[in-house]
Amino acid sequence: MAETWKFIHAADIQVGSPRSFRFQPAWNENWETAKQQIIEKKPEFLIVGGDLTRDGYIHRYELEQMKSDFDQLPFPVHVIAGNMDAGNKHTQITGPIENRDDTALGITYSMAAQFQEVFGALWWDAEYEEVRVIGICDMLLGSGLPQETEMVSWLKSLKPSGANQYTIWVMHYALYMDSFSEPNFDITKKDQYFNWYFSVDHPHRDLLFSIFKKVGCTTVISGHIHCRHTDVFEGITFTYAPATCFPQFEHRWCDADPTLGFLEYTVCPEALHNKFVPLRSTSTAEGYGPGGHPPASMRDYSLAWEK
Ligand SMILES: [Fe+2]
Repeated sequence: MAETWKFIHAADIQVGSPRSFRFQPAWNENWETAKQQIIEKKPEFLIVGGDLTRDGYIHRYELEQMKSDFDQLPFPVHVIAGNMDAGNKHTQITGPIENRDDTALGITYSMAAQFQEVFGALWWDAEYEEVRVIGICDMLLGSGLPQETEMVSWLKSLKPSGANQYTIWVMHYALYMDSFSEPNFDITKKDQYFNWYFSVDHPHRDLLFSIFKKVGCTTVISGHIHCRHTDVFEGITFTYAPATCFPQFEHRWCDADPTLGFLEYTVCPEALHNKFVPLRSTSTAEGYGPGGHPPASMRDYSLAWEK
């Protein structure tokens, strides 16, 4: 590897299929743009921070399509699951959004197993010279699934990084919205719902943070929010990553920037730099079907462009 080298983080790609009850070709075209820009940068590897598919948790073929897409790239790709790939974070109470049954949308054993079958792992630990990258499936936390037990046991077994290593943690949900110590948001309250939807609850937040400290984490990159933002807490940089599919939450923080793009990390002998790379063009192609999380009864496959 050269003295100075690069890796890329991209998230919230949400490539869909015209075989589905909904499809936004603009998001597929945006990924093609991002992919070309990433290839031109010649990174040593690519990290995908979840939500690679529009509805991979419903359609296995969307996961397989993205696996095949990543396999054609000329560098290794490390992928974590997002909620659109394997199901949402768990709740036993549903929120106030119409046609959204939060209790039914949580990750299940079979959704997690399906992602694992296609991508090989739900959590992983990779090293490239002085950079260590750890990826997890944070939606498992609080699910009560056997995969949660396995992942937590693995998390507790992680060894501390070497003193000369940059340790990058990759997860889909944000660890917190405004501050680590904020209490859990109330899913039933309209003005708190999206804060609940985008963040990890205590006590899982505390568990993860204790592991970050133990391994010597320097940076945590999350996705899911589709809006760039940075916070530093106890020496760890929390980077909220941009999306490539569509922007949202532009007024959530003073530094919030929902511009579509990806993160480019440059590893130098004395430092790790990151910069935002905007998409050089964004598609306006129109698609069909509902947004959000419609129940199965509202998924109309007769709309599909490809039968
Ligand atoms: Fe997401």
